[in-house]
Amino acid sequence: MKTEYGTINILGIETSCDETAAAVVEDGRIVKSSVISSQTKLHEKYGGVVPEIASRAHIEKIYPVIAEAMEQGQASKDDIDAIAVANQPGLTIALVVGVTAAKTLSLAWDKPLIAINHLHAHLQSAMLTEENLQLPAVALIVSGGHTCLYDCQSSLELKLLGSTIDDAAGEAFDKVANILKLPYPGGPSIEKAAKNGNPNAIEFPRSMLGRDSLDFSFSGIKTAVLYYCHGQDMKGENKVDSMSEQQIADIAASFQVAVIDVLVKKTQRVAEKVGAKTILLGGGVAANNSLRVELQQMCDLSVPTRKLLIAPKQYCTDNAVMVASLGYYKFMAKLFADLTLEPKAHSS
Ligand code: KG4
Ligand code: ZN
Repeated sequence: MKTEYGTINILGIETSCDETAAAVVEDGRIVKSSVISSQTKLHEKYGGVVPEIASRAHIEKIYPVIAEAMEQGQASKDDIDAIAVANQPGLTIALVVGVTAAKTLSLAWDKPLIAINHLHAHLQSAMLTEENLQLPAVALIVSGGHTCLYDCQSSLELKLLGSTIDDAAGEAFDKVANILKLPYPGGPSIEKAAKNGNPNAIEFPRSMLGRDSLDFSFSGIKTAVLYYCHGQDMKGENKVDSMSEQQIADIAASFQVAVIDVLVKKTQRVAEKVGAKTILLGGGVAANNSLRVELQQMCDLSVPTRKLLIAPKQYCTDNAVMVASLGYYKFMAKLFADLTLEPKAHSS
């Protein structure tokens, strides 16, 4: 797209959790490069992300990852119009690495700095291929740290309608995988195990938090799985070690279907409330095939039908393309940050 600036290239930087990522994106949609250094191997043996280890790995990788993104995108500093960085929400000691790198480059290259909300960037992933968003639109963002429903007017106009009051959906997948002694990260492991399981084997609770609530709660279902495996008072023996692969698969499938049920029903509730023509789905858990299929079915069966926009799989989990893409829209709106930019644990 030709603008008053010509072509716009944004360098995006992402370090909010356990992926060090950088990307160069042209005009918000054309991905020139995307580099992700995953820390999965480092955190695997702890069954979750260890903040200090994450921060140290980001420090080691951040400049090589940025250099690779620039090289793959065949971009020199003169080709870059601005630097966008996720500064919230996330682990502050992880975010600070990306924010410091972005501020340093902004100063050294004399380029504008753009602050990006990581959750809004996840939502942007679902809009990468869509030119004309049909309104009203509702977005479901499901990640390791967050489960949120937004009313979405545009990339920059988002209103939070509901969120989790305890565990996030991805967190529940990770914790249940831990209980079932499935490998980290839990989401893909549960999905894999669930493929061979019976989703009707166990009736796990579906917390809807009342008729009108748009919030989520996933700690109850996690506890239900824990009690199922360890006995109601946690005094029973841990049955997981003696369970067959089929029993583990049945638990995984029954858990997964319950979580997806809640996610789809709540999204439908919001969609009906606002008369949504479009539903957007993003975040790490959006990589889950069953969720993608169930949400598609809900949209197809709605009267009138709703259009579903799902983030491409490679941009569901953390990446910098979504940061650079959203950065473009903030650039066009001249929404710049300055060198006092700080990382923030929570979304504002
Ligand atoms: O968005 P993301 O990469 O990081 C955060 O912002 O938190 O999401 C990571 C979360 C993890 O909890 C992971 O288990 C979950 O997304 N996840 C999945 C799948 N792939 C990743 N959950 C369910 N099914 C999947 N296929
Ligand atoms: Zn994320």
